[in-house]
Amino acid sequence: DPPLRDLADQQGSRMGVAVSAHLLDDPRYAEIAATQYNSVTHENELKWETVQPQRGQFNWSGADRLVDFARANDQDVYGHTLVWHSQLPSWVADGGFSAPQLEQVMDDHISTVMGRYAGDIDYWDVVNEAFNENGTYRDSVFHRTLGPDYIATSLEMAHEADPDARLFINDYNVEGINAKSDALYDLASSLLDRGVPLHGVGLQSHLIVGQVPSSMQANIQRFADLGLEVIITELDIRTTTPASEQQLQAQAADYTRVFQACQAVDGCGGVTVWGVDDGHSWIPDVFPGQGAALPYTANYQVKPAYWAMHEAL
Ligand code: XIL
Repeated sequence: DPPLRDLADQQGSRMGVAVSAHLLDDPRYAEIAATQYNSVTHENELKWETVQPQRGQFNWSGADRLVDFARANDQDVYGHTLVWHSQLPSWVADGGFSAPQLEQVMDDHISTVMGRYAGDIDYWDVVNEAFNENGTYRDSVFHRTLGPDYIATSLEMAHEADPDARLFINDYNVEGINAKSDALYDLASSLLDRGVPLHGVGLQSHLIVGQVPSSMQANIQRFADLGLEVIITELDIRTTTPASEQQLQAQAADYTRVFQACQAVDGCGGVTVWGVDDGHSWIPDVFPGQGAALPYTANYQVKPAYWAMHEAL
């Protein structure tokens, strides 16, 4: 059977995986990441708290390790993420910066990180998780200090830092048509109307077995109709654990639904799954009693979800 990445390459589609650089020490983890996927996303190592834990002190070790791995394995790197309220060091979150000071801090961060990886990282989640569930803007130091235009400002800074990069806004619970994705849609339309550099939206897609939104394809289509690229950026489909064989079959059907929704729309660039295997997934830490959300077991065995992806590609 051909690996997933060969099938995706034939369609010019991204088949990505989130990787934790330190886990590449495990040869089985590294082998799956290298052989099955044509794209990698740093699970954590490019986040602000890791890259710039103190002002002007940059730590590239984890981020570089995965970029080097991707180069060695002829993979794309999807950059995650630049401006986000979470995993943000306290010197930014509690820094008490004025608006011009915070803009300087953002510009320093964006230009340094994107500048370092220009040519290696062509896609960036510039802004992550800007919205609340009801479609209002999420409170963050960026929104509080700069208002909603912090998003346009971040995109302008990113475009300046690497004019060739494809710039995305990424969020969760925006896979189907709902108040939150409506807000994202309205924002994207207005940014495009204003000529702000925005090239795509990322639908994280942290989903639950049995609850793939029926409007997912229509939602992807409406963003594509704006001329934007859509990427499923962080797919996992969780269930209660331990998962029964029936739950794993239902999960496989849900993986198929997500891939079909993407493939049905010109302008959906592909899918990244949020982790190599169930043993290293973030889900059990954040959603107690749930997990088994990925295409490989904790023992690195393929699951029905793997074959669903294989058949869909
Ligand atoms: C998660 C990582 O998977 C965890 O290892 C970390 O502890 C917290 O962040 N949305 C995002 C990702 O955009 O960055 C998050 O990743 C999952 C939710």
